[in-house]
Amino acid sequence: MGAGRIAAALVGAIREAGSDVVAIGSASPKRAEAFGDRHGIPHRFGSHAEVALDPDVDVVYVASTNDAHLSHTLAAIEAGKPILCEKPFALNSEQASRMVGAARASGVFLMEAMWMRFHPATNLLLDLISARRIGEVRSVRVDFGFPAAPHSSNRLFDPSLGGGTILDLGVYVVTLATLVLGAPDVIEAHVERSDSGIDIQAGIILGHPGGVSTLSTSFVADMANEAIISGTEGRIRLHAPFHHSPKITVEQRGETVESINTRPDGSEYRFEVDEVHRCLAQGLTESPVMPLDDTLAVMRILDRIRATAGLTFPGE
Ligand SMILES: NC(=O)c1ccc[n+]([C@@H]2O[C@H](COP(=O)([O-])OP(=O)(O)OC[C@H]3O[C@@H](n4cnc5c(N)ncnc54)[C@H](OP(=O)(O)O)[C@@H]3O)[C@@H](O)[C@H]2O)c1
Repeated sequence: MGAGRIAAALVGAIREAGSDVVAIGSASPKRAEAFGDRHGIPHRFGSHAEVALDPDVDVVYVASTNDAHLSHTLAAIEAGKPILCEKPFALNSEQASRMVGAARASGVFLMEAMWMRFHPATNLLLDLISARRIGEVRSVRVDFGFPAAPHSSNRLFDPSLGGGTILDLGVYVVTLATLVLGAPDVIEAHVERSDSGIDIQAGIILGHPGGVSTLSTSFVADMANEAIISGTEGRIRLHAPFHHSPKITVEQRGETVESINTRPDGSEYRFEVDEVHRCLAQGLTESPVMPLDDTLAVMRILDRIRATAGLTFPGE
């Protein structure tokens, strides 16, 4: 569901993981046809919901704009189809709770497409932390920002499509911080707004029982896009782009003590698709690696960050 850029990127990953893409749904029949032609997809629908009703569809991938994840996911749940739903999972935790509640009540598989969680670099980071290579982790620092073009068709700047850095980029930095340091009990932020009414930059501080996260997001600044996880005996650097890092270094007192290549062969989106396959083969309705409770916890943090600046989406 959704004929945009990320959907195009996932077509290859889905095929690489051994499945096929048999249907595409778009609000525009022309876009559905063009997408189908470009990617060799036989069934083209001029509405998103029709994808879920196609008997040849076994799994629905929701790749529409953030504002539409709720209705598209609910449509797929109603049709009884397992769902991989793009990040940010929804506009807010209330929508996310409705999606999770409906999936659980119907026994339908649902997972957030948080591809970073399945990337080899993230798994290696968690292994290095468990092996206490940097002692006790006390600090997470992550930046995610780039200058984005604020043209009228750019969804990132449109509040009605769920634009803004906190949802699109914040979801990654908050997910990483909570994965490493656990749930925060303090959430503070400073947010800069754009003329269009979205957050264009944010500085976020999370206080966790075991440490502090310092996080930044931006659509105006060309940021380092690295993650530095620091412990009592060293630090681990996820080189840019941290959410699919090609290289990890372990550093102690300014020296690199180990450098590990973490760039996989093939599509980097393949791992989340593999997880959907694995879960479905085992009859699971949730991924134990990316549980829906973790998705909900992150959505609640994103709510609180937006609330510090009084940011709301139309109709919210
Ligand atoms: N996992 C990742 O790495 C990743 C990366 C980027 C985005 N995302 C997430 O995926 C979702 C979609 O993001 P995206 O980057 O794919 O957005 P996008 O390229 O802007 O596409 C979003 C929607 O815009 C419409 N659209 C596409 N091309 C259009 C055109 N030429 N004219 C008018 N409308 C057009 C499509 O609607 P129709 O479906 O109606 O055709 C499409 O579903 C978002 O939730 C985003 O946060 C994830």
